[in-house]
Amino acid sequence: MADRVRPPVTRRALLTGGALSMGGALAGAAVATAVAAGRTEPAPALRSTVDFGAQTVPFHGAHQAGVETPAQAHAVFVALDLAAGVDRAALRRLMRLLTDDAVRLTQGTPPLADGQPELAHVPSRLTVTFGFGPRLFDAAGVADQRPLTLRQLPPFGIDKLQQRWCGGDLLLQICADDPVTVAHTQRMLVKDSRSFAAVRWVQRGFRRGRGMQDDGVTQRNILGQLDGTGNPPLGSSVFAGAVWVDDGPQWMRDGTTLVLRRIRAELESWDTADTVGKEFAVGRLLSDGAPLTGQRETDEPDLAAKNALGFPVISEFSHVARAHVAGDRQRIFRRPYNYDEPPSPDGTADSGLIFAAYQRDVGRQFLPIQRNLAEADLLNEWITPTGSAVFAIPPGCQPGGWIGQTLLG
Ligand code: HEM
Repeated sequence: MADRVRPPVTRRALLTGGALSMGGALAGAAVATAVAAGRTEPAPALRSTVDFGAQTVPFHGAHQAGVETPAQAHAVFVALDLAAGVDRAALRRLMRLLTDDAVRLTQGTPPLADGQPELAHVPSRLTVTFGFGPRLFDAAGVADQRPLTLRQLPPFGIDKLQQRWCGGDLLLQICADDPVTVAHTQRMLVKDSRSFAAVRWVQRGFRRGRGMQDDGVTQRNILGQLDGTGNPPLGSSVFAGAVWVDDGPQWMRDGTTLVLRRIRAELESWDTADTVGKEFAVGRLLSDGAPLTGQRETDEPDLAAKNALGFPVISEFSHVARAHVAGDRQRIFRRPYNYDEPPSPDGTADSGLIFAAYQRDVGRQFLPIQRNLAEADLLNEWITPTGSAVFAIPPGCQPGGWIGQTLLG
């Protein structure tokens, strides 16, 4: 679904309450009215946006939350390097501790020894997802349990990787609709990891704020494109078959793998390209995400369609053509976040995507797509991978259990 432009709040809507979904704007107006009337609290009926802060995502379940969860507005990805001597027993202690923290925080309860417990009370759909990097398996003495294709990706011609955004032994993926909740959760988890691991890198990302658009619309990335249309739908059997592990090492069943690429968007040159060129590079319209061969965002791209001159309407070198795979089991699930760091002194942007892709198997799903794209994708002119990391995302756990138990327990 394309994002929709909302009408401005009208005086009539304000008076009749018909603009409740305008959230912040209306709440602000209501507070002003209440204060003018001598009250300090907004009328209860106008508090709907507060619900976003109170919403929780269950921590326990077959799968870890934060993958098939509708993407929250804010995310931080923290990669830790295990300290020398951290072995399986130490990892067990660490994962028990971190799981306990995550169980509490995601449900809006402060973890033990929280210096700022008040900050835990707005869970705002907080999820904490743990990932194990390739080296963790060696540290734990379980190298034989490492999924076969879980290794750092081979170099690609398009890469300009910086080591400060690569690798990592243990991943903390923290997502919530509120950035303070994300910051507090990061602080708690990093604090509790201190005697086991050092911070290797931290990547902060964002999407549109919750309530700015209807839930479920496809997000626009920082290049202005609708990004996520071709994903397997959440909750579908296609999603399950592509993402959740159902073969290979027993301990990974119901887990998945994550490839995290930091990809810079070359916004200076993207700005100078015209709309037709930008759309040709991807194979979809910028306005509503419809494929160049269709009318609506949800129309399937017709990669065989030819124009009057006999050329493909969607170029065989376009991003969607190069990234398209034939079988549902071959698909990947993309859950990217934008990043936007301070521009350089001359004003050059430092923005792009923290590109998170989940799939059962890195080697059988992600790699063939990435090879295709690296070889010839028109979009390559405007995107540059600068970071790369891979993680096994263990299955979820039930109350009393902990993440990683099936491997380390
Ligand atoms: C900054 C980098 C990237 C940008 C801006 C980008 C943007 C897009 C856009 C606009 C679409 C079309 C709408 C959609 O289906 O979501 C798309 C589709 C897709 N992209 Fe990317 N992408 C990037 C990197 C990647 C990478 C690294 C991969 C995988 C290695 C990838 C895999 C895909 C796939 C599988 C599709 C769906 C293709 C289909 O329709 O079957 N993308 N991307």
